[in-house]
Amino acid sequence: MKGCGHTPVLLEETLLFLQASRPGVYLDGTFGLGGHSLEILKRNSSARVIGFDRDEASLQTAAGRLKAYANRLSLYQADFRQLLELEGLIPWDEVRGALFDLGLSSFQLADPARGFSFNQEGPLDMRMDTRQKVTAEKILLTYPESRLAELFKEYGELHQSKLLARKIVSLRKLGLLKTTSDLRRVAEETYHWIPQKNRLHPAAKVFQALRIEVNQELAGLDDFLDRLARQCRPGTRLVVISFQSLEDRLVKTAWQRLAAPEKGQPVVKILTRKPVRPTPEEIEVNVRSHSAKLRAVERV
Ligand SMILES: C[S@@+](CC[C@H](N)C(=O)[O-])C[C@H]1O[C@@H](n2cnc3c(N)ncnc32)[C@H](O)[C@@H]1O
Repeated sequence: MKGCGHTPVLLEETLLFLQASRPGVYLDGTFGLGGHSLEILKRNSSARVIGFDRDEASLQTAAGRLKAYANRLSLYQADFRQLLELEGLIPWDEVRGALFDLGLSSFQLADPARGFSFNQEGPLDMRMDTRQKVTAEKILLTYPESRLAELFKEYGELHQSKLLARKIVSLRKLGLLKTTSDLRRVAEETYHWIPQKNRLHPAAKVFQALRIEVNQELAGLDDFLDRLARQCRPGTRLVVISFQSLEDRLVKTAWQRLAAPEKGQPVVKILTRKPVRPTPEEIEVNVRSHSAKLRAVERV
């Protein structure tokens, strides 16, 4: 989870790796409130941005914020993993860079009705695209206990995931699992939560795991990056910012495979041997940036 809107994460680093001062088209696959794109458009009058987000409410708010740049901005409600299937929408010869600032925005987190936050009472929803049928509640009420345990272990990297799943199943049988507060309480009980400075609340990982499952956030990410890189023209810069280790691993291996394929010539050059992290100063002003990792490549 991270800054959205007014405090885009790793902003200067992103613009630098995108070489966003070049004239041309920039793709923003995770538009959010358009924090990064606003700066591209503001600083480069020869830039155009095509933005995508799964979240309609975000796009509507963002369109208002970036009204002054409407003539150089096109926005679409779409999953960026479908971007290559959008025939005729993207002028690939003009694309100079693409950005994917993954995960959740603070705009989404701040709205209790979306159910992303364990700090606010709300429905167990967690959908980025509210047209989708599967919600967190549906998963919690219908998945077998073993599948719940697996997803908490895999996506939340939680120990005692079997115990957590067992408690969830007991509660749901009693009809006592309805809100974000109910889920938070199960997490607190399972992990014997006592508030302590610098200790992550156990619900953070529980909510993260569910959110990843609801939105299928990791599915096909590496395959998409591979296909995108091959589609782009030489010189195009691709930048991904991730916020949790599973996601970062997918990005890292996708870039490595493209830079040193088993067969044939390299497709990209890796620009970030190690991931770029926010400075202590950035973390100080935007604490949610603390887990951000930026990895960039250039199409060769
Ligand atoms: C961290 S925010 C982006 C913040 C943005 N860079 C800014 O500065 O305002 C992530 C956004 O990506 C969207 N998102 C996440 N996965 C997506 C996907 N697969 N396709 C499209 N949008 C996605 C979320 O809905 C959220 O609005």
